[in-house]
Amino acid sequence: MKFKKRILCIGAGYVGGPTMAMIAWKCPDYRVTVVDVNSQRIDAWNSKELPVFEPGLDKIIKKTRGKNLFFSKNIEKGIAENDIIFVSVNTPTKTFGSGAGKAPDLQYWEKTAHQILENSTSSKIVIEKSTLPVKTAAAMEKILTPAKGKAKFEVLSNPEFLAEGTAIKDLENPDRVLIGSHETKSGRKACQELVNIYARWVPRNKIITTNIWSAELSKLVANAFLAQRVSSINSISALCEKTEADISEVSRAVGMDSRIGNKFLQAGIGFGGSCFKKDILHLAYLCNYYGLPEIANYWESVIKINEYQQERFITNIFSSMFNTLTGKKICILGFAFKSNTGDTRESPAIHITRKLVAEHAHVTISDPQALKNAALDLADIHENIKYEEDPYRATAGCHAIAILTDWDLYKKLDFRKIYKSMTKPAFLFDGRNIVDHKKCFEIGFNVYPIGKPAMSHFKIKKKSTISL
Ligand code: NAD
Ligand code: UGA
Repeated sequence: MKFKKRILCIGAGYVGGPTMAMIAWKCPDYRVTVVDVNSQRIDAWNSKELPVFEPGLDKIIKKTRGKNLFFSKNIEKGIAENDIIFVSVNTPTKTFGSGAGKAPDLQYWEKTAHQILENSTSSKIVIEKSTLPVKTAAAMEKILTPAKGKAKFEVLSNPEFLAEGTAIKDLENPDRVLIGSHETKSGRKACQELVNIYARWVPRNKIITTNIWSAELSKLVANAFLAQRVSSINSISALCEKTEADISEVSRAVGMDSRIGNKFLQAGIGFGGSCFKKDILHLAYLCNYYGLPEIANYWESVIKINEYQQERFITNIFSSMFNTLTGKKICILGFAFKSNTGDTRESPAIHITRKLVAEHAHVTISDPQALKNAALDLADIHENIKYEEDPYRATAGCHAIAILTDWDLYKKLDFRKIYKSMTKPAFLFDGRNIVDHKKCFEIGFNVYPIGKPAMSHFKIKKKSTISL
């Protein structure tokens, strides 16, 4: 079949794979190729067991793979043969040298830009799909300038807003698609090419076109605002635990104000995922770079509250269980950073598990999708750690359960059966506020939610209320 257009994506990760699958599905007359340096990842994309668990993804892959969607290891050939190139490589925070722990590590991006330059004999549109700090496109253009022959490059910014676990829904029905381009004739032409791709399934009024720098900055700011909401509600959950307020009631009342809205107001053990922390660090780094330390401090406090929330959760387990965890069996229900994904990057579960093991607790980790990644994250811990997918087997004999991921599966567990199999007194720390606390208390658990009064069968001295 002769294809109308040929698209390449460099980087076959959580973004590159699903995004290109959606384009291939919606544009059957386009040929889409996805390449990666990680050959195991490409093998997995070509196998039955995809490297990314994402509801609905397998169906789209089945419909497109081998027809107009191809996963390949040959990056050079991919660059040479395609005219539209998405770059979706990882952009982690630097771990070394200047800006370590703050600045974005752009080595993968830069390497890709050089590779594009070296393997191009015709003009190309290069699209930043990765999340990049403001003005990265300018750096890319500098690298791409001395092109061989007549090849010219037009760089666009097209940040991705999908969330893991809902990627397919988000890609099919995005709130908006954002495209940044140069405000030149060739910039606008390249922008229109990309608009035409998305316009196959996204209403035109949801496709926003802007300048490159605004597009790059908007992506960082969107993530910073979302994370800020999570930290805001988590900060109030700490206050709720000291008073008789209930965080769910507060969230509901606050979120019903249409100016505020009800999303991202679920208190928990703090946000995880590969992007929120990294993107806020990058935003703060940019602010400092441009001489705005006050603004940098403001955004960094979102991360500090996130860390504080995790510490509070651990301290609560420790103090509720009589200040010693030595030899006690604790079951972690959920290791992924959120439900419906096997991704554990920056999952609060990593830090919480490490702290429990450091207290000599015996930890069993359960998760329906993330056990492989959990074992990699904790590969250096060889003692007092077990992995068990079945939640009933995982909780049997334990002194405590800590729910760390909001999997639907955990809402439907038979807690009566679980309670019977546990060592008494049995503790339940619900880090996601997803189970029926009253019911679990009545079954016999000592229940510790987030931002709500604890329900304990022990006699606790009540703190006197503040007299004003
Ligand atoms: P990822 O780590 O899952 O995938 C990146 C892939 O790029 C890896 O498979 C890696 O092997 C490959 N790669 C790195 N250098 C390469 C090179 N030179 N040539 C070919 N392949 C190379 O990362 P991800 O989660 O898909 O994120 C990618 C980008 O998208 C990041 O900038 C991230 O901030 C952004 N983003 C991520 C999400 C998300 O939900 N994960 C959502 C929106 C935006
Ligand atoms: C987030 C953004 O939602 C996406 O728009 C963005 O594209 C993506 O980051 C990115 O740039 O990588 P993601 O991290 O996949 O997506 O998942 P979210 O649903 O945003 O959840 C992030 C974390 O916040 C999770 O740990 C989740 O449990 C936590 N969270 C979220 C809460 O604790 N409370 C909430 O109310 C919402």
